Amino acid sequence: MSDLANAPPPNPFRPGNGQKPVYLAGRDKEQQQFESMVLDSTVAQNLIVTGLRGVGKTVLLEELKPIAQRRDWLWTGNDLSESASLTEDRIARRIVVDLSTLVAPMFVRKNTIHKPGFTATGEVTETNVGFDDFWNLYEKTPGLVDDKLKAVLTEARRLLEQTNVRGVIFAYDEAQNLSDHAVAKEYPLSILLDVFAYFQRHRSKCNFMLVLTGLPTLYPKLNEARTYSERMFHTMYLNRLDQDDARAAIVKPIELTKSTLRFSKETIERILKNSNGYPYFIQFICKEVFDAWIAKMTYGEVPSVNMQSIVAKLDQDFFSPRWSRATDRQQDFMKVVATLENSDEEFSVQEIVGVSRVLLKKGFTPSHATQILQALAEKGLMYKSRRGGYCFAVPLLSRFIKRQVWNPEALKNQNSDGDDAL
Ligand SMILES: Nc1ncnc2c1ncn2[C@@H]1O[C@H](COP(=O)(O)OP(=O)(O)O)[C@@H](O)[C@H]1O
Ligand SMILES: [Mg+2]
Repeated sequence: MSDLANAPPPNPFRPGNGQKPVYLAGRDKEQQQFESMVLDSTVAQNLIVTGLRGVGKTVLLEELKPIAQRRDWLWTGNDLSESASLTEDRIARRIVVDLSTLVAPMFVRKNTIHKPGFTATGEVTETNVGFDDFWNLYEKTPGLVDDKLKAVLTEARRLLEQTNVRGVIFAYDEAQNLSDHAVAKEYPLSILLDVFAYFQRHRSKCNFMLVLTGLPTLYPKLNEARTYSERMFHTMYLNRLDQDDARAAIVKPIELTKSTLRFSKETIERILKNSNGYPYFIQFICKEVFDAWIAKMTYGEVPSVNMQSIVAKLDQDFFSPRWSRATDRQQDFMKVVATLENSDEEFSVQEIVGVSRVLLKKGFTPSHATQILQALAEKGLMYKSRRGGYCFAVPLLSRFIKRQVWNPEALKNQNSDGDDAL
């Protein structure tokens, strides 16, 4: 008993990929929108959930699942982040597997075996419809991958129309990999779009919905895909939390777990400022603050928080591995970008060119800047927005860059067209 009373309160914060938070702050609007999509099949389209790393796409996806299931939708899907390389065949097989694990156990296939002899009425055996049934259909359907996939989905739909199932949702997380990791001359993203667009045109009592979750790099990829039509999707762009929601994300987990600790007003303000409302950073900083408090209380000290050391740890754990993906030259380029006032938001090639002329001996040309931006996009550090501007693909990266020691004088002595590899 006394041991329990003395045990430190459990830490209610969970930084990490897809870690379900104790309290999901904000995102009510997104959940309501999704609910109306699954309720009214005339509005039901397909859905894209996009936003920067750590903004809460994966955990929102997990919240959407029970909403759909309550409304008689089946839900299947996968995380595509492990897919080292994606081919059209592989994604087709993925869908058939996902579909058949869900649908197959619901149906049995009746086989009548006629024994020799005139009087025999035939013996009826029942077996579950299985992956093989769907896969056989896939293989024997003539045509291209999308024709085959359409045949399988049409058959599944025919079966499901006999039930009260409203439809099937295919939810794929980290969907930017569909094109980023596509094998040369393979278009798995196009296949997916083509197949779901087809079923959107041919609606029935039972429908299919595609839910793609991914980094904002997904967007330009969709536009490049052969069959993409913007009308196919409803897009949810997840942003950082606003002040009230961010505050709730900090305070509620402590209240809900009935912790004896409370963050002071000042601490909450500092967490708000340092996380800038990004869910991952909130979880990370809060977890550290909480741990630091417990450690200090054990030593009987007055809890105070050294935010600087927490930020240093965040730099080490989160930013450094991403930052080091860039070459020295690319890092210098990003240092120049980070000096822009709007570097936390969207900026244009023109603006980069402009500021580089001030900072460097010889500034970047627009084409050179575009070239480096493209290289950085491939490394997941920048992305091109829908409006044609550019943004850092890692939240608060520009703040991290400003924290790095760098010598503008050294930069000034460089030419923009130095011969370092991009
Ligand atoms: N709405 C939210 N409220 C509180 N914490 C959240 C919220 N959304 C995400 N988080 C936390 O942020 C972190 C990142 O979430 P995740 O869903 O993995 O982001 P993403 O998939 O966008 O990279 C996790 O630790 C999660 O618990
Ligand atoms: Mg995720």
